[in-house]
Amino acid sequence: MSATANVCVVIPAAGLGERLGLNQPKAFVSINNWSLLSLTIKRVLEISRVGHLIVAVPADSKAEALDHIDRAMRDADRKIAFDVVEGGETRTESVKNSLLALDQLDSLVLVHDAARPFVPKSVFENVIEKLDSGSKVVIPVIPVSDTIKTVDEKSEVLNTLDRSKLRAVQTPQGFAREVLSEIYATADLQPTTDDAGLAELAGIVVTTVEGSVESFKITTPFDLEMAQSFMNRK
Ligand code: C5P
Repeated sequence: MSATANVCVVIPAAGLGERLGLNQPKAFVSINNWSLLSLTIKRVLEISRVGHLIVAVPADSKAEALDHIDRAMRDADRKIAFDVVEGGETRTESVKNSLLALDQLDSLVLVHDAARPFVPKSVFENVIEKLDSGSKVVIPVIPVSDTIKTVDEKSEVLNTLDRSKLRAVQTPQGFAREVLSEIYATADLQPTTDDAGLAELAGIVVTTVEGSVESFKITTPFDLEMAQSFMNRK
């Protein structure tokens, strides 16, 4: 893939954020008056290769999403082509709907959660560089610091996994466009928690690159407090 290939970023932002308990879509929750969606888009706009953005939001939230996108683009002083699409019941469905808005020129597609607003530019660059060098599916990962055990339904430990071989997986997950379209079109779309999972099921090699602890995902009220402290630190 040439180093000038157009990059499209898909942002699944249609989650209802029930674990946050704030009664609004998670992507619209604010930290210091900036929604997670706007913060995430501002990060995306730092990457000059990205020329198209597709955002999946809850069906009744398209107008609100436009405000968040507009605010991020004005703040970044950079406007790129974008589409707002209706999300689905699951993240997998939201991404699938987003892919219908891909443009013919989008040769590389990066799927990045709105719930990871502090992803550093370097992580996008790591993923794009690996795709440029020919990998078809690329995911950012970080080492795992906890010991991980599997348990049974009685919460009793079954075994301990070898931590040196474990990685925590983040986004943006990068794809050659035709590979992503193909796995979403042909896979039996049982919801997966990440997009590369579908590639694995299809037997496609998934390559890892270095992620970042700063790219943590906001899921619980505690994560939101951490995000608040992280933003105030800057
Ligand atoms: O729920 P979770 O934090 O795993 O969601 C990850 C990302 O997927 C979030 O940005 C969320 O908005 C998005 N999502 C979605 N559609 C859904 C569920 C989650 O776009 N139905």
